[in-house]
Amino acid sequence: MSGAGLLDGRTILVTGITDAASLATVVAAELARRGAHVVCSALGPTPHHEGLSTRAHDHLAATLESCRKTVDREVGGGAETIACDLTIDASIRDLGETLGGRGVSLDGVVHAVARDRTLARGGAPGLVDVSREDFLDCLDVSAYSLIALLRELLGTGTLARGASAVSLSYLAAERVVTHPYSTMAVAKAALERITVELAHQLGRSHGVRVNAVRFSPYTASRAGGSIRGLERAEAHADAVAPLGNAIPEDLAREVAHLLTPGLSVTGEIRNVDGGLHLLASGPSDPPAEGA
Ligand SMILES: NC(=O)c1ccc[n+]([C@@H]2O[C@H](COP(=O)([O-])OP(=O)(O)OC[C@H]3O[C@@H](n4cnc5c(N)ncnc54)[C@H](O)[C@@H]3O)[C@@H](O)[C@H]2O)c1
Repeated sequence: MSGAGLLDGRTILVTGITDAASLATVVAAELARRGAHVVCSALGPTPHHEGLSTRAHDHLAATLESCRKTVDREVGGGAETIACDLTIDASIRDLGETLGGRGVSLDGVVHAVARDRTLARGGAPGLVDVSREDFLDCLDVSAYSLIALLRELLGTGTLARGASAVSLSYLAAERVVTHPYSTMAVAKAALERITVELAHQLGRSHGVRVNAVRFSPYTASRAGGSIRGLERAEAHADAVAPLGNAIPEDLAREVAHLLTPGLSVTGEIRNVDGGLHLLASGPSDPPAEGA
């Protein structure tokens, strides 16, 4: 089934686009293809970023510009991109108020945001080595942001009753992997538990559905490419998963499905990984030669 038209008349917010290789870009393009009106938010300079150095400001501005160009090229349909830092509640509130002020009511939200800043330094050797600051930053960006996003969108009246939210996770939320991922693994475990708790709370209060999808290891994106050794895990997973690694289009189809109106599915953690999750070894690196 092509799925074209299944999201006709739905308006969906997509977070986490940086460039064409971002998983969120492929998801947004699929949502548009199915008839959704897509609105994007991206990390960029906002009035809530105080005391930024010129370098930090330029980095945020370049990230926003990259997202805007990507959305124009890959999603089309006049999809708009609004700057929003998901670690700042007031920035999310602005996003909600901006959309609400234009009469936009969101039927869906895609949360595709994560950050582990130790990765820029090669990754923490292990969880015991992670500083409190780096740990909390990772949890803030990668997990708490889902709570803040849904709360502020509901608070500004921008999230419609019966809306659906989907976030992106990884098998390492549950299994130990050997690439430097332990802080993010804790964040993904938190994100998945947050998914379940919000599914219960917001389902009862607003009829809102909340689900997560675990995807195969994927090195083409900036986040994936920054994880040292993930390319070996990706190749290994592709070799051992029953169907080989899933591709971003597989993920996009499942996310679009979960955003389709009329489903009675919430609190689910789906696997779109070619069946990798069936194996005891998970997405770990292959054993070293001679080991
Ligand atoms: N790459 C993989 O192997 C893989 C596998 C499974 C799940 N995922 C998940 O998919 C999602 C998207 O990752 P990706 O691989 O497409 O990489 P990506 O680098 O393209 O996307 C990460 C996004 O997070 C955004 N972001 C970071 N801090 C932010 C903040 N404070 N406010 C708003 N946005 C912020 C970045 O700007 C970027 O757009 C992440 O949740 C990631 O953990 C990735």
